[in-house]
Amino acid sequence: MALDLNANCLPTARTVADLRDQVKVWRADGLRIALVPTMGALHIGHMSLIEEAKKHADKVIVSIFVNPTQFAPHEDFDAYPRTEKTDSELVKDHGGHLIYAPSGTEMYPDGFSTSINITGITNGLCGDSRPHFFGGVAIVVSKLLLQALPDVAIFGEKDYQQLQVIKRMVADLNIPVEVVGAPLVRDEDGLATSSRNKYLTAQDRQQGLALHKALANVATLVKNGKTAADALKASEAILNDAEITSWDYFEVRDASDLTLVDGPVTRPARAFIATQVGKARLIDNWPIDPA
Ligand code: PAF
Repeated sequence: MALDLNANCLPTARTVADLRDQVKVWRADGLRIALVPTMGALHIGHMSLIEEAKKHADKVIVSIFVNPTQFAPHEDFDAYPRTEKTDSELVKDHGGHLIYAPSGTEMYPDGFSTSINITGITNGLCGDSRPHFFGGVAIVVSKLLLQALPDVAIFGEKDYQQLQVIKRMVADLNIPVEVVGAPLVRDEDGLATSSRNKYLTAQDRQQGLALHKALANVATLVKNGKTAADALKASEAILNDAEITSWDYFEVRDASDLTLVDGPVTRPARAFIATQVGKARLIDNWPIDPA
């Protein structure tokens, strides 16, 4: 085994073979293993995923891979923050056990030709505004799961549609792993944590706060008896007050199958928003109890 060992950092596997060697040792000791897939630039939201992972397993692997296949050519693949050393220190401080940071060619060697197309649950929301996105997520997540073969894998509810897509894919492909969702984490000012928040100026950030305020308002109005469509319409004022006048989506959807809800909310639902603020595309979502 040839793990990368740096002072203050966790051991880092850079190849599938090294990852599997370490997993084999843990398995021989009868230990349960969790995987937390990430693209790095870790923040408190990711730390909550590690905390969740520790509840389910003895050993926690955090993968760090900025996955090119989930970015369109005009998106921020090159600009995406890469902070592996500080990420590794953070994971170590929070009780993780191994970083898996493969290279681009380890994940996608010459001749790589496989794709995964998930239908239904990928319609709408980010599936419409980022048509390449879920294909890229599906291929990289299925590879990470098959490479590590963890008992459990943890994904944040911040990317709520992504979590549902991964659950669908894991069930459809009989990948032997339990997929666990962990609650969205907000900064003190209410902004949903995201690696892309690093792109925001102080002024952008102020503007971005309108997202969760608008979502929370939708939930309150629905609870008070408004239809989803009316609650959304009324909450647009909060976005407009912050000079947000366009968005990829601002919608209410069923919490489990993500079908669009316009009328009265009779089952658990969620309000979703995605919009560009400064240089960052921000997404957020909020649970809605039936009226
Ligand atoms: O949510 C993310 O950070 C990424 O989409 C994931 C799941 C690590 C796949 O690259």
